[in-house]
Amino acid sequence: MSMKVTVDKISDPAQFGRVAVVMGGSSAEREVSLDSGRNVLEALKARGVDAHAVDGIPALLDALRTDRFARVFNILHGQHGGGEDGVLQGALEALNVPYTGSGVLGSALSMDKPRAKRVWQSLGLPTPKFVALPRGADVHAAAKEVGFPLIVKPACEGSSVGVTRVFEESQLDQAVELAAKYPGDLLMETLIEGDELTVGILGRQVLPSIHIVPKGAFYDYNAKYIAEDTLYLCPGLEGDAETELRALALAAFDALGCYGWGRVDVMRDRAGRNWLLEVNTAPGMTSHSLVPKAAKVAGIDYQELCWRVLETSFREGL
Ligand SMILES: Nc1ncnc2c1ncn2[C@@H]1O[C@H](COP(=O)(O)OP(=O)(O)O)[C@@H](O)[C@H]1O
Ligand SMILES: [Mg+2]
Repeated sequence: MSMKVTVDKISDPAQFGRVAVVMGGSSAEREVSLDSGRNVLEALKARGVDAHAVDGIPALLDALRTDRFARVFNILHGQHGGGEDGVLQGALEALNVPYTGSGVLGSALSMDKPRAKRVWQSLGLPTPKFVALPRGADVHAAAKEVGFPLIVKPACEGSSVGVTRVFEESQLDQAVELAAKYPGDLLMETLIEGDELTVGILGRQVLPSIHIVPKGAFYDYNAKYIAEDTLYLCPGLEGDAETELRALALAAFDALGCYGWGRVDVMRDRAGRNWLLEVNTAPGMTSHSLVPKAAKVAGIDYQELCWRVLETSFREGL
């Protein structure tokens, strides 16, 4: 895989050439991706970029053969046709087509939460204690090992689908049943009670953190995409605490081999310790989404954000 390097800022939209904005796809997060993609497309066009919508990976591969796109803005979310898991990145590497964001390794590793956590653990980066379980495993024994309260989630999904907080053993079977509706292993980890924070990364710039304060129990699918009453405080922390959190987020991002842009989800416990949850390599870009909010606080409006993400598609030798 070619090394990616930061290039000088692009000033003329023609330098990007014809851009395919790939969205939608066949993952559980299709609708969110379509919403993100429409916003990105509109913003790039408003900045004079020759941008075109393409729905999903098969249509993109067809279009690359016939339509001669110069690069791809990947705003697919999730795995299995979601384009956030390294599959699309591998296909584009093979075709020598530049694309935004992380490469094969960073995408695949970030999608697999248990394996990402093992990398962090090996580097001494804090992540909640966990067990990864194949289907049919003894979930009650695993829960005893992790301890209550815990959280159950699919190992490789996003958008909080299939995520349940479990405070006592009687709630466990139902939580496992819900997570098992999604493909892959289950992840069971210690529930961190405290504050939810997320940190956006754009190039080598770490954006101000956001402290997410959902009205309900946690930042579930409803709080993410539907409810209008979730509070977003940005920056989420002050002084040294904010500096430390941003440094941790960048270290976590780099540890997984991520590149270009992304978002790191963190829980902060009541003692003020940060715990890494996951990295999103193609984070949401809807009107409710977090990276656009953090960028705005950093003085980067939505159009400029899309432009700068598109700049991450430039690589050495291209
Ligand atoms: N260990 C945990 N402790 C407390 N809350 C958690 C934990 N893991 C996940 N959550 C909650 O569930 C949400 C979704 O979990 P996350 O790991 O970010 O998966 P995804 O966003 O990919 O669905 C988080 O935003 C957070 O609100
Ligand atoms: Mg998350």
